[in-house]
Amino acid sequence: MKQNQRVPDPCVLVIFGASGDLTRRKLVPAIWHLQEQGRLPEAFALVGVARREWDDNYFRQQMREGLAEFVGELDESVLDAFLAKLHYVSGDPADPTTYVALKNQLETLDREHGTGGNRCFYCSVPPQIYLGIVEQMGKAGLNHQHQDGQGWCRVIVEKPFGHDFDSAHNLNEVLHNVFAEEQIYRIDHYLGKETVQNILVFRLGNSIFEPLWNRRYVDHVQITAAEGVGVEHRAGYYDQSGALRDMIQNHLLQVLCVIAMEPPSSFDAESVRLEKLKVLKAIRPILIGQVVRYAVRGQYGPGTANGEAVAGYLQENEVPADSRTETYAALEFTVDNWRWQGVPFYVRTGKRMEKRTSTITIQFSQPPHLIFGQTDQMPPSTLTIRIQPEEGISLSFNGKVPGPDVRLDTVNMDFSYAESFGGRTPEAYETLILDCLLGDATLYSDSDWIEKSWQLLMPVLEAWKTTSSGAVPSYPAGSCGPNEADALLSEDWRTWAAL
Ligand code: BG6
Repeated sequence: MKQNQRVPDPCVLVIFGASGDLTRRKLVPAIWHLQEQGRLPEAFALVGVARREWDDNYFRQQMREGLAEFVGELDESVLDAFLAKLHYVSGDPADPTTYVALKNQLETLDREHGTGGNRCFYCSVPPQIYLGIVEQMGKAGLNHQHQDGQGWCRVIVEKPFGHDFDSAHNLNEVLHNVFAEEQIYRIDHYLGKETVQNILVFRLGNSIFEPLWNRRYVDHVQITAAEGVGVEHRAGYYDQSGALRDMIQNHLLQVLCVIAMEPPSSFDAESVRLEKLKVLKAIRPILIGQVVRYAVRGQYGPGTANGEAVAGYLQENEVPADSRTETYAALEFTVDNWRWQGVPFYVRTGKRMEKRTSTITIQFSQPPHLIFGQTDQMPPSTLTIRIQPEEGISLSFNGKVPGPDVRLDTVNMDFSYAESFGGRTPEAYETLILDCLLGDATLYSDSDWIEKSWQLLMPVLEAWKTTSSGAVPSYPAGSCGPNEADALLSEDWRTWAAL
């Protein structure tokens, strides 16, 4: 989140996995939008690297089609100039000669286009492949950067960042063998969402909310990421992962940290990351014996989506018929510090839920003394931050219904991004790629945060791994999740916010 419009140094962005879906669907459209807004340097080039035997022209053609599909109508003359900046190196990521060819290509671009030896390597490939890429880059000397700040070298790695604590720690070690921590940008696209960035502005760019942001006024917090879609074509990955790894370890714990963190003294990577890490350190570990009380999972069965009958998870393509992978997870976290003692943070996510919505609900405490009667029916004041869709923030509170009696009803104050700002909201990838090119890691995860987040979830993963943990509860596709998740809150006399 920049206060003024900075443009990165001349540079080359290298994408490993350039023939993949993410490159076409998200990365190249993000670069296109950056170029369109004048956020890229004049001397800029993109080099795609992948195994397929494509050349520059074919790569450009593929990206042209991708842009037409994912961006829409494009000015052809601007498009031609943009595509001319795209290049392609074909090669096996395990073969050292690929890196010789890449190095030559980068040197040519530096010479011919003045890209200044500055490189950003984007690993849009699974971890088992990028580990090899990182090692090969080290051997080929593609990891060096000059001390004078010119000729910088940064690497972006995609999720999943590990499968458990040990594998995440191992990934960090391999990366650290080749790159210094400040060169590594671990992407979490939730942090790049405008609505997530706005949480800090909402809290700390105003003086009226922060005084309420603590155990004195907040009863509890709910963080929800519900998806309408099922596992789609990703069963191979998803069945090995599950909702806890796929959404909670990264996106939702990051959101929790942004909600719960103390105000940093400045908006820079070091200060923000430190405060977020402090939140994770303050979360009370859920011990293996407490998993039944504090964590709930579920798996979607057959049901409906958009009025149509849809298959259950076990009937999806490539999902083993006896899979115990959770497509829904809900957890209750306790943050043991002065600000949040006694305020539960409930986090839930699921696929094939009633609808797609990512929302944060801050429920405030009831007034200490109620003077208007019928108080048990008086809903508490609630702040709802809609991350997506219908991005915005609403405050719901009690108001007097006009008339001679004192009757209360809930009313809303609403802020909608679309109404207030109009225009196109930048995609998370635009913000994050630009930040990396600018050398700003504020919205990226660091190694300590990643390892701590895995450590917190390990007892849950361990408990769920065993068959003695019982059957995975089922919920119908198109519902709000398993009944067991309601019990998680009803134990505390609370209920989930409507989706
Ligand atoms: C990804 C997960 O990280 O986030 C997907 O792997 C999930 O399973 C996606 O669908 C959700 O992202 P968004 O931006 O649509 O909420």
